[in-house]
Amino acid sequence: MTSPPASQTALSIVAGGAGFIGSNLVRSLVARGRRVVVIDNLSNGRAAYLSCDPVTASVPLIEADLADRTACEAAFGRAATMGRVDDVWHMAANSDIPAGVADPDVDHTDTFLTTFEVLRTMQRQGIGTLHFASSSAIYGDLGETPLHEAIGPLLPISNYGAMKLASEAQISVAAESFLTRANIFRFPNVVSVPATHGVILDFVNKLMRNPTGWTCWETERNERLIARIKPRRGNAFRRRRPILVKGRSHYRPSHDGLPPTGSKKNVPGQPPGVNA
Ligand SMILES: NC(=O)c1ccc[n+]([C@@H]2O[C@H](COP(=O)([O-])OP(=O)(O)OC[C@H]3O[C@@H](n4cnc5c(N)ncnc54)[C@H](O)[C@@H]3O)[C@@H](O)[C@H]2O)c1
Repeated sequence: MTSPPASQTALSIVAGGAGFIGSNLVRSLVARGRRVVVIDNLSNGRAAYLSCDPVTASVPLIEADLADRTACEAAFGRAATMGRVDDVWHMAANSDIPAGVADPDVDHTDTFLTTFEVLRTMQRQGIGTLHFASSSAIYGDLGETPLHEAIGPLLPISNYGAMKLASEAQISVAAESFLTRANIFRFPNVVSVPATHGVILDFVNKLMRNPTGWTCWETERNERLIARIKPRRGNAFRRRRPILVKGRSHYRPSHDGLPPTGSKKNVPGQPPGVNA
C-alpha cells in the first residue's frame, strides 16, 4: 500500500508552539502520531524547546508574527505546502502580564490580533477546527466565589484578560460563520517546565536567590503551604500570607494567618520542596 503524498497528509498547526505550554502540546501531539507545524515569532518561546527534545526535534518551525496579516497568511501558506491542515491550536499570546499592564498595545497585538488574524487566515484557507488557549483572567476578580464556566458578568481587570475575552467573542462569531468546531480552554496558572513566566517561576527564582527564611506546612489534604517568616522586633515573627503550591487554588488562610491543622514539614530557614 502506498502512503498519500505529503501534501495530503493531515497536520496540525500549533501557533505559539515554541512556548511553554505550546512545546509540551507539540510533544504530546507528535507522541500520538500527529504531524505538526509550529508557527511562532519567538518573542517569548525558544526554538530549543523543540529542537532539544528528540520527540519534537524534526517538527518544522516557521518564524512569523501572527498579528501581522501578511506574515500570518504567508506562514499558513507555507504550512499548507507540507500537508492538509486540519486544525489549529492557538497558543500564541503575550504572557508578560506586567508588560501588558504598562502598555495596552502589547495585549492588543499579541493576545487579540493574533487571534483575529489566525481566524481570518483559517477562513481564507478553509480550516474548520480551532483549539484556543484562553485564561481564567477573563473572570476578573470574583473574590471567594468558586468559578464555573457559566458565571458572570465577565469583567476582566487586566488588558490581557480583556483581550482573551475579546478573542473568545471573536471565536464565537467565527463559529457562527465558518468554524465547524471550536474548543476554548480557560487555563488557570499552569505549572511545569520549561516555564517561561508566572507566579510559581517568580517564586522559585526568589527562593533560589534567597533560600533562607521560608517555611512549609502540609495540610490534611496533602496541600503544601509556603510562607515567608520575617523577624520583627526582637523574637516576634510576622507570617506573610501563605502560598498554596499544590492542591486547591482558592484556599485562603484563616483570619489569624495560620495554616489549617497539619504537620509542619520544614523548619524556618530551610527551603521548602516546592515541586515535591
Ligand atoms: N502559563 C499559564 O499559566 C497560562 C494561563 C492561562 C492561559 N495561558 C495561555 O496559554 C497560552 C500559552 O502560554 P504559555 O504559558 O506557554 O506562554 P509562552 O509565552 O511560553 O508561549 C506563548 C508563545 O506565543 C509566542 N507569541 C507571542 N506573540 C506572538 C505573535 N505575535 N506571533 C507569533 N507568536 C507569538 C511566543 O513567542 C511564545 O512562544 C497563551 O495563550 C497564554 O495566554 C497560559
